[in-house]
Amino acid sequence: MKKTLVLLTCIVGTIMLIRTQKSKAEDGYRLWLRYDQIENDSLLNEYRQLVKCITINGESPTMIVAREEIVGGLSGLFGNSVSENEEVKEGTLLIGTPENSLTISSLLADKTLEDIGNEGFLVFSAEVNKQKMTVITGNTDIGVLYGVYHFLKLIQTHQSITELNISGTPKIQHRLLNHWDNLDRKVERGYAGFSLWKWNTLPDYIDPRYKDYARANASVGINGTVITNVNANAQVLTPEYLEKVAALADVFRPYGIRVYLTARFSAPMEIGGLQTADPLQENVIDWWNNKTKEIYSYIPDFGGFLVKANSEGQPGPQNYGRSHAEGANLMARAVKPYNGIVMWRAFVYSNEEPEDRAKQAYNEFKPLDGKFEDNVLIQVKNGPIDFQPREPFHPLFGAMEQTPTMMEFQVTQEYLGQDIHLTYLAPLYEECLHSDTYAKGAGSEVFKVINGSLFDYSETGMAGVSNIGDDRNWCGHPIAQANWYALGQLAWDPEAASEEIAKGWIRMTYSNNQEVIDTMLKIMMISREAGVNYRTPLGLHHQMAWHHHYGPGPWIKDKPRADWTSAYYNKADETGIGFDRTKTGSNAISQYFSPLDEIFGNIETCPEELLLWFHHVPWDFKMKSGNTLWEELCLKYYKGVDQVREMQDTWNTLKGKIDEERFQHVQSLLKIQLEDAIEWRNACLLYYQTFSKMPIPEKYEQPDKSLEHYMKVDRKYLPGS
Ligand code: GCU
Repeated sequence: MKKTLVLLTCIVGTIMLIRTQKSKAEDGYRLWLRYDQIENDSLLNEYRQLVKCITINGESPTMIVAREEIVGGLSGLFGNSVSENEEVKEGTLLIGTPENSLTISSLLADKTLEDIGNEGFLVFSAEVNKQKMTVITGNTDIGVLYGVYHFLKLIQTHQSITELNISGTPKIQHRLLNHWDNLDRKVERGYAGFSLWKWNTLPDYIDPRYKDYARANASVGINGTVITNVNANAQVLTPEYLEKVAALADVFRPYGIRVYLTARFSAPMEIGGLQTADPLQENVIDWWNNKTKEIYSYIPDFGGFLVKANSEGQPGPQNYGRSHAEGANLMARAVKPYNGIVMWRAFVYSNEEPEDRAKQAYNEFKPLDGKFEDNVLIQVKNGPIDFQPREPFHPLFGAMEQTPTMMEFQVTQEYLGQDIHLTYLAPLYEECLHSDTYAKGAGSEVFKVINGSLFDYSETGMAGVSNIGDDRNWCGHPIAQANWYALGQLAWDPEAASEEIAKGWIRMTYSNNQEVIDTMLKIMMISREAGVNYRTPLGLHHQMAWHHHYGPGPWIKDKPRADWTSAYYNKADETGIGFDRTKTGSNAISQYFSPLDEIFGNIETCPEELLLWFHHVPWDFKMKSGNTLWEELCLKYYKGVDQVREMQDTWNTLKGKIDEERFQHVQSLLKIQLEDAIEWRNACLLYYQTFSKMPIPEKYEQPDKSLEHYMKVDRKYLPGS
């Protein structure tokens, strides 16, 4: 009896161990680079026939990691080790550049590598002496590495690899993540744990995770990382920290990733002992030149600086009566001899300025167009306020003909549910990138500004404010990984479609099963609009709770800064709701090119999803649907909650079709999301109702709690704030 019990305990223990191991394998750590064995046998056999062995040329650090990735990846996907072979024969996967492989060079006879630039790749099927093979090549090793990831993706997503003839080239030069990571490892607006960078053990201990971070980035084409917060700490520029930064740069380098730092404008005073940081003073110029030289002695391929100046209390050139151009050029001249760049942020607005906050960046920067050094990019948030669930595109896009403007998207979900709400952000990015600026007439979309084609910019860039932390699954919410992935894909090709990006991500991260793909796609594709509907429909914005920005707070007012309050933006009163940015109001519409200024400025032609962004609208205004504004607002808020219910029901159909661990995680988070969506809806409608004095139509479930209840909700200790 006792023996049986012991045996039973052992069996149960083993099963549990296997289970734990199995579930551990699906904890999200591997992101979209899972490389599990292909389950479809006929497909697997087909692939095995086409790729029997690998020949890799080149011994550079980049080729070493390319080898690791392709051998490891294919061995995992095929379920058997794929060997390397020197001799090229039938079924060889031949990898290298024309410089290091004569075979590749001869196979390239009728193809040109000129068009693909320094980072592009070719993947093609070829025949040598009647032996069929596949070639991955590029002008550089990093191009080859990108080709390797692309080839692996074809197999991960079950695409055909016969008759291949693919070329890939990034459309944007600088494709970066911005980490708002502090040196104490807290991440500003970070919801996925602490910073990845373990400053206290660097440079001696190299956490293996640094490499996995680099792999993930390279696999989606990200080639730069700003590892410190825009609210910068000058300490990172001291030798003590530069040594640590250099150790990270060493890990990232083989993956084609350059490291950048945020530069605190007052650093010459804080760590340099100067009395001033005036950008025109000789000793300040010398200080930055010397500091830059020092940085490059640690990190020879250092990318450059990202700067937040004269914004939200950060020091900047205006403290000395100097312009943003004078500040930016100081640093740009320092990094120029080393091929570095400066990304100067346009997210500026001042407390003293009575002007509509949405107008201030344009007012500051437009007059400076043409005054910047040619290695300065102006980094502009997608919209003129601050990463709201929906904003019109920033009017600086298209306005800076002579100064490269680069895109800053937020990947971390500061205003879109943080690590709790499921929000696929690529549709938001896509909406902005495809907005027509009319800068050079119709067809002057934001993506053409960003990719440099509209004005022939010398530098191009896109950055995403990272959502990465040391949570086991990197991004907190299991689906939030898709936003990191999408940022990379859109930086590579800003015309890529959000739906296609999602499909690729789902296939690699979850399953190639069509039902799973369709189901997850449906949820992801409505998630952003749902988030807009239950938070800030019809152009409302900045209605979130004070400080942590998670829940609703449309009643926020009377704070030290008016433009940090919700009342400043909703302008709700008895006559209506919305911010008048037409000629009768702040006239922010004048910052847009014709005919957009007229379209936005006319209440009849303004797109309804931006109506309350540009207009103060009477409660009984007739919308296109025939509803009054109040009825339409109710409709949108209720729709948002219904959409979350739909997301929940749809997700539930995935039970048993994906791994239990991630299934349950998302399922639980969707429950919270639904409660939160109801809170947002009720809190906002009950508050606006105090002005509209109109009933919530009877057909809707009525709020079961009072406005006072919602106003008392006080979330403490939320991460990231
Ligand atoms: C937002 C965010 C801040 C951040 C700022 C910025 O306001 O809440 O935490 O510092 O954007 O982009 O600089």
